[in-house]
This record gives sequence, C-alpha cells and structure tokens, in this order.
Amino acid sequence: MNNSIYKKLPFPYFEINEDFIITSSSLSYENIPFHDLLVPPLKLTFPQLLEEKEIMNLELNIHDCITSYDVYIVRDDENRLHLFCYPIKQQEVQNHTIAAVMAHEIRNPLTTVKGFLQLVRPNLVESGKATYADVAILEINRANDLIAEFLHTGKPYIHDKKAIVLNEIAEDVFMLFESKALLQQVSTQLSDFGKDVVVYGNEQQLKQVLLNICNNALEAMDKQKGVISIWLGADEKNARLVIKDNGMGMSPETVKRLFSLYYSTKATGTGLGLSISKRIIELHNGDLRISSTEGEGTTVTIELPLLDKGSAN
Ligand SMILES: Nc1ncnc2c1ncn2[C@@H]1O[C@H](COP(=O)(O)OP(=O)(O)OP(=O)(O)O)[C@@H](O)[C@H]1O
Ligand SMILES: [Mg+2]
Repeated sequence: MNNSIYKKLPFPYFEINEDFIITSSSLSYENIPFHDLLVPPLKLTFPQLLEEKEIMNLELNIHDCITSYDVYIVRDDENRLHLFCYPIKQQEVQNHTIAAVMAHEIRNPLTTVKGFLQLVRPNLVESGKATYADVAILEINRANDLIAEFLHTGKPYIHDKKAIVLNEIAEDVFMLFESKALLQQVSTQLSDFGKDVVVYGNEQQLKQVLLNICNNALEAMDKQKGVISIWLGADEKNARLVIKDNGMGMSPETVKRLFSLYYSTKATGTGLGLSISKRIIELHNGDLRISSTEGEGTTVTIELPLLDKGSAN
C-alpha cells in the first residue's frame, strides 16, 4: 500500500511477509515479528490461523496498551498479508457479552409465559376476553423476534480472557453434570489427557459451551442404558474436546439445521444452545463440529488453538 495513504489510517494496519515480519505499518513497527504484538504469543498456531481465517479476534499490545481487535486479513499476489486491525472498545465488548447472555436467558421465562397464556386462553373465550391473550402472545412473539435479530447481528464479544487449563474446566463441568445425569440413570465418563491442555479464552463462556453440549446429550438419552463420555486431548497445534453420547441421534434434516437460531425439535427447547456455543468457539478462533447417526448417537468435537507449544508436551 502507498506509504502516505496507510500512515493516515485511523486504525492499526500491518503488512507482513511470509516469515511474519512486519514490512510496513501505519505505526512505527517495521522489521519486527508480528508475533511480538500478540497477547498471548500464539507462536505455534498463529501462522496456521492466518492461513485459514479471513477475520480473527486478536488481542494486540500496541504502544504498551492491550486492546481487542477484529483483524481483517487480505493476501496479495506476492504472498504478503495485509492486516487491518479494527479496535473493539472495551465498553462495547462488555455490553455485547452481557446483552447476548441476557437475550438467551430472557427466552426461557418468555417461553413459560407464552405456554401458560396458551393454556388459559380457552377459559377466556366465554367471557369474550380471548383477544387479550392473543395480543399478549403476539407481543411475546415480537419480543422473541427482536432477540433473534439481536443474536443474529450482535456479537457476544469475548472479554476477560486468560490462560485456561481445559482439564480443570472439563472436571468442573463434569462434577456439576454427573449428579444430574445419575438421577436419570445415565452414566458419565471423563477420560483425562494426563497432561495440562492450555488455551486462551473466557472461562465462563467455555463452561457454558460444555454444559450446553452435555445437556443436549442428556436430553437425547433413553433412560437406563445411556452413556455420555467426554474425552480431552491435543495434537501439537490444537486442544480437542470430544463429547460422545449413545442417545437417539439426529435425522439428516436436523444435522443440516442444528446451528440455526431457534431450531429445536424439543417441546421446551429454545434452539439457541448450539448456535451460541458455535459462535463462542469461533470467537476463540476454534471450531465446533457435530456428527450424528439416527438411533446410534452423537459426537461433538471442539477444537481450540493451544496457547503455546509447552501445553501439549
Ligand atoms: N446430542 C444430541 N443428540 C440428539 N439431538 C441433538 C443433540 N444435540 C442437539 N440435538 C438437536 O439439535 C437441536 C438444537 O440443539 P440446541 O441445543 O441448539 O437447542 P435445544 O437443545 O433444542 O434448546 P436449548 O436452547 O434449550 O439448548 C435440538 O433440538 C436437537 O434436535
Ligand atoms: Mg440444547
């Protein structure tokens, strides 16, 4: 990019070469490895992530100030990468996260209220007041639509990230979940990796993802012979969590639609659990995949970039 133009950009811009060295920048950061600006220094997985993604959520230390950025990545003909780093304001980050969690939680009481309104409506017909129930139900539908729209366009931005030992998260969730599963005579197994698997992320959000998936597994179970197993592992680049159940599985139609907002096959399901979980994992620069066979069971695989090489060894 022309020197005089990029110096005027109102946000950080970096051009980096194949060795990830900064060759031009809107700031005075030439000839140093781009890794040096990363918080934490994801040395091992960062080049791989750059190959795969067009936009990433990264924390950068620029002029001794750590800020969260949406980084847009453009590759040119000479294999250089141009990184346009759009700052996410802290207040915005917190507001979005709180709003997304609130939006999800508000759905449950609304569903209950709607259910009861539908239940009492026949009793109101005689006194000519059924239209009140109809108006109230329409209003609840409208509120639900507004929440769906927000969850679709608003991003639950990550804040409060730190190094996280996934083994501990898995154990915490497992403890919470084990007794609930036992009540339904479903047995649970947790196979530990034996070594600490460390990623960088938001503890509450990652726990929420794991709980959503475990709850889905439990809800898919036939009582008596159900088994849910959680397996934690890692290769040299990624942490991997696999949650497997031998429940009812999904039809091909459900497999296609399960990440759509509000898609649920359950009478009381909100259909938000998996869409939110997928978004959280993507905002951690990871991947959430699901495979399922009707009548046999379901396997959910979560991959997250390891914080650094040390955590896999
Ligand atoms: N382990 C599983 N086994 C079988 N079906 C599943 C499993 N996990 C998800 N599903 C299917 O995917 C759908 C969407 O799941 P999702 O968690 O997003 O919503 P939900 O569980 O219906 O509602 P909630 O918002 O309360 O979680 C479910 O309704 C179900 O049909
Ligand atoms: Mg669910």
